Amino acid sequence: MNAIPRTSSLDSTLALHREGYSFISKRCDELGTDIFRTRLMLHPVICMRGEDATRLFYEGGDVTRVGAMPSFVLRLLQDKDSVQQLDGEAHRRRKAMFVEVTMTETSVAAMAKRFRQHWLDHFKGQEEDCDLREAANLILTRAAADWIGIPPLLRDDDGKLAHRLARMIDSAGVPGPAAWLALLSRRSVERWLREVVVALREGSIEAGEGSALKTIGLTHRDADGRPLSHETAAVELLNLLRPIAAISRWIVFVAHALARNPQWQERFQRGHDDEMEGFVEEVRRLYPFFPFVGARVTRDIDWRGHMLRQGQWLLLDLYGTTHDPRLFPAPEKFSAERKLTWRDADFRFIPQGGGRPETGHRCPGEMITSEILKETVKLLCRPPVEIIPWDAAIPLGAIPASPVPPLRIARRAAAVDGDRRAMPTNGGAK
Ligand code: HEM
Repeated sequence: MNAIPRTSSLDSTLALHREGYSFISKRCDELGTDIFRTRLMLHPVICMRGEDATRLFYEGGDVTRVGAMPSFVLRLLQDKDSVQQLDGEAHRRRKAMFVEVTMTETSVAAMAKRFRQHWLDHFKGQEEDCDLREAANLILTRAAADWIGIPPLLRDDDGKLAHRLARMIDSAGVPGPAAWLALLSRRSVERWLREVVVALREGSIEAGEGSALKTIGLTHRDADGRPLSHETAAVELLNLLRPIAAISRWIVFVAHALARNPQWQERFQRGHDDEMEGFVEEVRRLYPFFPFVGARVTRDIDWRGHMLRQGQWLLLDLYGTTHDPRLFPAPEKFSAERKLTWRDADFRFIPQGGGRPETGHRCPGEMITSEILKETVKLLCRPPVEIIPWDAAIPLGAIPASPVPPLRIARRAAAVDGDRRAMPTNGGAK
């Protein structure tokens, strides 16, 4: 068995907080390896990157997500009893429910249509600059609540809901007061969704045919043949609402990429819709969102000559894998010509996990994400929207990452200046 290289420092928690997205890759490069041991919050952890490590996380059943995240992160993101915490047949059955709801042409088109309509309503008559992430978060929250099928009657304040959903994502990176507040927000959204499920089951509201609300609240049966409890149904509805609202972060990155690469803005103004997928997928590769995912080993295994013991905590570097020059030549260069797509279900292009979503823990929301981002490109390019500032930095130390200063958009025709056109198209993700 080969020994797994170790970091020289006893605990790397402070370094992780300082370096953020580049933490794992930086140490892999220093140690000349794709796997190393360290401690985080005093717990022993093995950090990994690359295609083989992604296979370990997304196929084969040698790892579980149970016990793999600090509890405040788990509760802010997926939560216990959610699909992500299941394994084997229980996972496959529950995951089939998500695939049915999120991965059909019809459901994705319905979501994109609602997104477009809410965007146009939101910006109708808008003359002043506005914060793009805030606006996109509200638009997506409204679109997602409609698409899930939650009746307007039970939605008293979409603005407050949008704010609470954003808090869950914004605060998942660091423990402390912001995370506690976000947990309170989460509890109140879950209580509200539980009331929606109860109202549906008691017959006081109806869910549209084929809606996510109907599938999750009424028709789905888990592997044990039973419907979801009220609580678990609420958790899984939130597993649609929260990540759809979080697409607002990718929307900001799409705007950043358009502002930095005005030649693409011009191409999309002239049509070229066939190149949009390559563009938005390159945004998902280059820009930082989920830094890594965690897992625990379910039995002792010999993995590529290394012994991984049962119960061992692992982290897979999503960001480092999508920036590995062996997998993506000149990884810091924005290059829509790479023609990446979630459709390949491979183990290299993994901003939202790798492999097949039906059988592993890969995100079932990539089809929706990609369609929403293509719609965003159309909305930002036709007619052209000015994105300010065009040269915002995106520091990699903060998780989740955002442009500094935040991007704003104006409903004026974009004036593309000559200097900008002369910029090298290096994506500017840093
Ligand atoms: C906003 C952009 C998104 C990002 C960055 C993202 C990221 C991810 C990642 C990295 C995973 C894998 C977690 C793991 O391996 O343990 C995941 C899983 C998941 N995502 Fe997403 N996601 C996004 C959007 C969505 C959307 C739009 C939906 C639903 C409509 C969604 C629903 C889920 C669910 C239910 C899982 C758990 C899957 C499982 O455990 O089998 N996500 N997501």
